[in-house]
Amino acid sequence: MSGERGQLWHGRFESGPAEELVEFTESLSYDQRLIFSDIACSKAHVKGLHEVGLLTREQLGEILGGLDAVEMEYRNGTLTFVASDEDIHTAIERRVTELVGASGARIHTGRSRNDQVATAFRHYLLGAIDEVGARLVQLVSVLTQRAADVAPREDGEGPCRGGAYLPGFTHLQQAQPVLLSHHLMAHGWALLRDLERLEDCRRRVDVSPLGAGALAGSSLPLAPDRTAELAGFSARFENSLDATSDRDFVAETLFVLTMVGIHLSRMGEEVVLWSTDEFGFATLDDAYATGSSMLPQKKNPDIAELARGKAGRLIGDLTGLLATLKSLPLAYNRDLQEDKEPLFDAIDTVVLGLAAMSGVYRTITFETDAMAAAADSPGAVATDLAELLVADGVPFREAHATVGALVRRSLEEGVALVELVRDEPHLGERAVALFEPGAAVAQRTTPGGAGPQALPEQAGRLRKALDAAARTWLDA
Ligand code: ARG
Repeated sequence: MSGERGQLWHGRFESGPAEELVEFTESLSYDQRLIFSDIACSKAHVKGLHEVGLLTREQLGEILGGLDAVEMEYRNGTLTFVASDEDIHTAIERRVTELVGASGARIHTGRSRNDQVATAFRHYLLGAIDEVGARLVQLVSVLTQRAADVAPREDGEGPCRGGAYLPGFTHLQQAQPVLLSHHLMAHGWALLRDLERLEDCRRRVDVSPLGAGALAGSSLPLAPDRTAELAGFSARFENSLDATSDRDFVAETLFVLTMVGIHLSRMGEEVVLWSTDEFGFATLDDAYATGSSMLPQKKNPDIAELARGKAGRLIGDLTGLLATLKSLPLAYNRDLQEDKEPLFDAIDTVVLGLAAMSGVYRTITFETDAMAAAADSPGAVATDLAELLVADGVPFREAHATVGALVRRSLEEGVALVELVRDEPHLGERAVALFEPGAAVAQRTTPGGAGPQALPEQAGRLRKALDAAARTWLDA
């Protein structure tokens, strides 16, 4: 053997690599989490080699036994790495060869690390996507449950039939009151879109590059359709250059994960606001809040804040990878090794974030009296007053101006808006009824809108979409 340190390419080299090269180029420190996927895909590869006559039954048996043994050693914590193991793929091949001798030297037949790495990475990612999907379903289910808990009831009293309501905001200024159930379901719909995106991008992850070799395929009679099937993929690559250089599937997954992170961040920001003394709309459960080291009275929304903060690193993971990809010529370039850390980081961040935010929403107390008190402000009725005039045939722009003038007078003269409305000839007593608690929410009748009349339909549709998502992501 030429070369000093047992590198995969030792034949061509007279001396071993410099220490700086080893340190700067290794990926073993973080790609170990691909070990089970690499072993599964390596098994598919060698079974494929056997089927086309490139490995005897005996050689195949030895290599499969070696791969099992490496997996066992890793699980037991007894697999040790050596200096020449630049990545997990190298380490597995090295160890299998140590364990099974001559047959081990055949494992890489017809394969390059370029197709091997892409195959193992996709295989791993399919499992990770499934975990993210399951946790997204879990959070949507918590939101759906909490939305049902605070929804209007058949036998409920009052204009909202007991449904909790709060101010809806635009520009973070009170706009029109909305049912709390409607508000919670809004987050549910956003997360369901993330699930759709995840399912769509999963289809493109589910393609095997195995057989593409270094970039051009092989002169050996490989059967990539068969190895794709053996490794559990739905399809094989169409073009070997594309197969070894494509990392679109990583970028896409990172985008979906980042979008989830941004949704968690926006939800987090809301929890931060709602749990302030100033809003007082929500109280965090002790198990999902933290204290202050100095201020004894504090109860801090750290999960919500970190859901918000970690969206920043997700955006960094995505943009970092896109920058890595942007100028790469076909096909494999070592730059592509930089695909792993951002993806692993994003998966870990989103998986934990979804679990933590599910806990927050499962246990948070909604302060529905404070919400209602804020929502029953006179301003909440302004649009409905204008719409009352519109129903009488007044052009909307004119109605808007009439009510706007009443609001201004109310502010200037310090007279309650309801009194001015009572005295306004075109409004009068029927308009005064709109100032009753909850009356303005009940005015919202549009399908998909924020009022009690339309809510059951929306809730039914959300439940149906959630059930379908659960069948896709939980029963798989
Ligand atoms: N660790 C490398 C990666 O993740 C393995 C591929 C190396 N291939 C090569 N031709 N040097 O991309």
